[in-house]
This record gives sequence, structure tokens and C-alpha cells, in this order.
Amino acid sequence: MSTIVIIGAQWGDEGKGKIVDYLTEKCDYVVRFQGGCNAGHTVVVGNEKYILHLIPSGILHKGKKCFIGNGVVLDPSGLLKEIDTLISKGIEVDNNLYIAKHCHLIMPYHIAIEEQAEKRKKIGTTKKGIGPCYTDKIARNGVRMVDLLYPDILKNKIRANLEIINFLLKNLYGAEILDEEQIFNQYIIYAEKLKKYIVDADVLINKAIDNGKNILFEGAQGTLLDIDHGTYPYVTSSNTIAGGACTGTGVSPKKIDNIIGIVKAYTTRVGEGPFPTEIKDSLGEEIRKKGGEYGATTGRPRRCGWLDLVGLRHAVRVNGFTGIAITKLDILDGIEKLKVCVGYKYGNSILEDFPKELEILQNCTPIYEEIPGWKENTAGIKDYENLPHNAKKYLQFIEDSLKVKIQIISTGQKRDEIIIKESPV
Ligand code: IMP
Repeated sequence: MSTIVIIGAQWGDEGKGKIVDYLTEKCDYVVRFQGGCNAGHTVVVGNEKYILHLIPSGILHKGKKCFIGNGVVLDPSGLLKEIDTLISKGIEVDNNLYIAKHCHLIMPYHIAIEEQAEKRKKIGTTKKGIGPCYTDKIARNGVRMVDLLYPDILKNKIRANLEIINFLLKNLYGAEILDEEQIFNQYIIYAEKLKKYIVDADVLINKAIDNGKNILFEGAQGTLLDIDHGTYPYVTSSNTIAGGACTGTGVSPKKIDNIIGIVKAYTTRVGEGPFPTEIKDSLGEEIRKKGGEYGATTGRPRRCGWLDLVGLRHAVRVNGFTGIAITKLDILDGIEKLKVCVGYKYGNSILEDFPKELEILQNCTPIYEEIPGWKENTAGIKDYENLPHNAKKYLQFIEDSLKVKIQIISTGQKRDEIIIKESPV
């Protein structure tokens, strides 16, 4: 038996989908544990490109059991669209998808309120209602998957929540209010379609672990977007770090064997917020184009920058990575000199630890070490020995700095464009 948690080590979009897809081959269950359809995992299988927002990408592998855990916030309309698309492409969903009873639902009023809140204070959210849904969860007003099975409870919850939200929409934001009956009727239709997937996920996942199954916990977003350990308030509203795999599924930390950090060979960020190593000149644009750095969910251009070891050391610390996967190495092909941030300078101080203060993050100057780049093509290389000398040196520098072994290197979008130095499972 082996359990493995996959975590984004930066601000999301590290290419987790591809690594999850590879590791899924060796696993029986794949479990999402946080976030919602703000995430977008792109997986290329043959000539077909799949973008999955909620359903674990394990669904693309025959017979793998895919779970949406209690830590996820689920938008039923998005989920149903995703299910329909998969079925239309011949993917079997019905016997392989399971949703936790105590997973919270995104309601139309979450999206409406976020739309307004973003106008007042711009976080650059995906506007999928993620934050407001988690707000209701923590405030104990949330609608859960299990409520779809009890129409009276569902109705009462919608009524109570709308009383407050409509007051805000009308009186604070001067916006359209929402209709209780319409939402209720819509969610009853969703209930009919989704009830076959609703299960006691914590019970089933723990049983599977006890029965020796291999389980992969698929994180969404990244460490620096974690609600507690990220660049608050420019973060998402869930715990994206490894601990989230436990709270978001009901599995004990004692049962987690491997935690793999996914590190993009450079850094990107989408949305507002501090980004010390952002490249603001034409090289940033070049990397964006070459790396296809546009949001899978919103299509927004991602901000691009150099690798930041201060942020990555923080990620190693709060997640306890047992191994690392480096992605998109090939995007750096042909860049003459690469920079890697090894510390931040703020006033007269040199900082080695990722600061909590937004003010410092926004105004610090990165301290760079320059590493010679490589001219050769790394795209599609499958054998570590075939990597250019300087690419190996770049990887070695990362490994030495983070003191965590690099187990996987991804050298392209396709499933087989990958170097496995040491398989984590
Ligand atoms: P929210 O998750 O929609 O609330 O957005 C909060 C912040 O997280 C914004 O900066 C988003 O751009 C960012 N974000 C959310 N999901 C992702 C993701 O999957 N990849 C990268 N950034 C994300």
C-alpha cells in the first residue's frame, strides 16, 4: 500500500495534471481534496486535450476510482458539464466517480456576491464563487452535497442564506437580487442527476487504504495560494498544502507515505498579488508564449518570472516534500543566462525565509544567482543522461538548495515526455 500527495509548490499551474496523470497508472484511487472549479488541469492523451476542473484526471484512466473529497467546493453545473464532456468522448464516469456527502456546494449567490466583492477589493479571483462558498462553510451556513438528498433542508438553507445575501446585493452593492424558488428548483434537478455519486467518501477511502490500495491525493492551486501559508490576502480560500489532503478527505496524517512537490522550472502567477521574481520585460512575454502560460480556467495571461528558492524553501518546509517533480524544463531551452532567486533584500536586511508581511513581499528585491543556460533542445528527452550538461547543473542547483531529491522531470506536454529518475510509488 502506498499513499501519495501531489502538491503545487508555487502559485499553481505547475503542471500537476501531467504528473498526476503519470502516477495514476500506479494508483487505484485518485482523490481531490480542496479547491473547486477554479483549478484547471490540462492533460494531453494522444491527440486529445482534456481540461478538467473538478473531476480528478484519473478519470481518463480506465477503471480508476475518482473521489471529490469533503474539502472541495463543488459547483454542480460545472461538474455536470464536465461529466457530459467526458462521456461524449467515450470516458466511463458513472462507475468511477464518487463525491463526499460533506462536500460543500457552490450556489449562484456565491458567484453573484464574489462578482461584486471583486469590484471593491480586487484579488483577481477566478470568479467561480470559491471564496464565498468557503466563507459560508466556515460560518456554518454552507449547503452540502448531502443536503441535495433532503429537499426541505435544502430549501430552508437557501432561504436563510438568501435573506442575508439579497440584503447585501441590494443595499450594499446595488445589484440584482436572486430568486429563491429558481435556485431551489435548479438544485433539485442537479440532485436528481448527481445523487448516484454521493457517498461516505471518508469511509470508502480509509477502507481502501486499509485494504492495501494505492491512493493518490491530487492537490489544486499551489502552496503560495494557501489560505494560511500563502501570500495572504492574495490567495485562494482553501488549504492547498499537504495537510489539506488529510482535512479534505478524513485520512489521518499517519497514513500519508509520500508528498511530491511539483515545481515549474520557472515561476508563474495569475491574478493579483506580490511576485518578487516577476520578469517584466520581453523575456517574460517570450516565456509566456513558449510555455503557453494562459489560465486553463479563465484564459488570463500568467505573469512569468525566475525560479524563486525562497518561496520553494517555504514550500518544502510547510509541506514536508519527500520528493520533487520539475516541470516545463524545455521552456527554458535557448535562454543564455538563467537567474535563480536565493534570497530577498529588504532595506538593509537579507531574508532567507519567506516573509509573512505583504509589504515586504511587495517591496523586497530578489538576490539572484546566475546559472548558464543551454542551447540544446530538451523537449521530449526521456533519459536523464541525455539532458544538456547545463540543464543538469540547473537541476542539481535546485536539488542542493532545497535538499529534496528530484524524482521526476517533465520535458513536454505529452504523457511520455518525462524522465523518471526515481519512481515515488
Ligand atoms: P479563487 O481561487 O478563484 O478565489 O482565486 C484566488 C486567487 O487564486 C487568484 O489569484 C486566482 O488567480 C488564483 N487561483 C485560483 N485557482 C488557481 C489555479 O488553479 N491556478 C493558478 N491560480 C489560481
